[in-house]
Amino acid sequence: MEAVVARKEEHDDDDDELGAAADGGVSVTWKDLYVTVGGGRLTILEGLTGYAEPGEVLAIMGPSGCGKSTLLDALAGRLSSTAQQSGDILINGRKESLAYGTSAYLTQDDTLMTTLTVKEAVYYSAQLQLPDSISIAEKKKRAEMVIKEMGLQDSLNTRIGGWAVKGLSGGQKRRVSICIEMLRRPKLLFLDEPTSGLDSAASYHVMSRILKLARNDRITVVASVHQPSSEVFQLFRNLCLLSSGRTVYFGRVASTEQFFTSNGFPCPTLRNPSDHYLQTINKDFDQEDIEQGHGGSVRTEEVISILVSSYNHV
Ligand SMILES: Nc1ncnc2c1ncn2[C@@H]1O[C@H](COP(=O)(O)OP(=O)(O)O)[C@@H](O)[C@H]1O
Ligand SMILES: [Mg+2]
Repeated sequence: MEAVVARKEEHDDDDDELGAAADGGVSVTWKDLYVTVGGGRLTILEGLTGYAEPGEVLAIMGPSGCGKSTLLDALAGRLSSTAQQSGDILINGRKESLAYGTSAYLTQDDTLMTTLTVKEAVYYSAQLQLPDSISIAEKKKRAEMVIKEMGLQDSLNTRIGGWAVKGLSGGQKRRVSICIEMLRRPKLLFLDEPTSGLDSAASYHVMSRILKLARNDRITVVASVHQPSSEVFQLFRNLCLLSSGRTVYFGRVASTEQFFTSNGFPCPTLRNPSDHYLQTINKDFDQEDIEQGHGGSVRTEEVISILVSSYNHV
């Protein structure tokens, strides 16, 4: 009980520091978001609308190249300078840019020092990243806290490892990277494919830790995900399904099945629902049809336009 009280107080301090809303949460809303490159010649995102709320994980899914990373970049305010953006991104209902330290972004690759142990990697990051106004003892406490939150306390003295040094598993490494991003206690966490390259058990472990973090600390999590298992898929609250920069579906994960079924594409029994949704909108699968003489590329284009216009009319 004592520990819970202590953590609560610590978070209240953080909220003051970051100037967050009364309940400490940050909601993000985007409206009619366009991203173009090449002076408007190439449209990457085409009028996306959606939202992400505190305490929940929003999954961004879609075939590779559909614009997942671009959407994360736009929301996090880190688009490359060659890209132009239009539309609104609102933070807690206001058009303002994210205050420094409010958000963290985990890129697809882990960039960890392979020769350090878990404890060293997180402790050193805490010393380097956190402001001088935080005491060394407090920095150490934060490091211990994030290590515990990510379930790494049993691997404290294990080396991170790499191609030549034996060390952590892929899932554990990903959790160390998340630990380091969480040191500043951001209220908004962007994750670009946090589970790619992991097997389904490790993916589930990583994602369920992220969900727990979101729930406990009212963090808003936006994560792009590639081919989640059905167990991982069920962890998400909302789903943003993209195809070629357009929204095919945005809404509750639990209502996705109804949306696909009502448009004539029900998920066959025994198939992983998220695999079904991705295959239904993935033009890459048409190649097989074309080879078999079915002329499938027209078909998926049609399916996507049925879904996109159905979604737009909801
Ligand atoms: N700065 C850029 N200049 C030109 N094309 C880009 C740029 N950024 C992304 N793209 C293109 O936009 C599309 C979406 O990219 P991305 O957001 O990385 O997709 P995803 O993360 O879903 O795989 C891709 O076709 C990619 O080649
Ligand atoms: Mg990407």
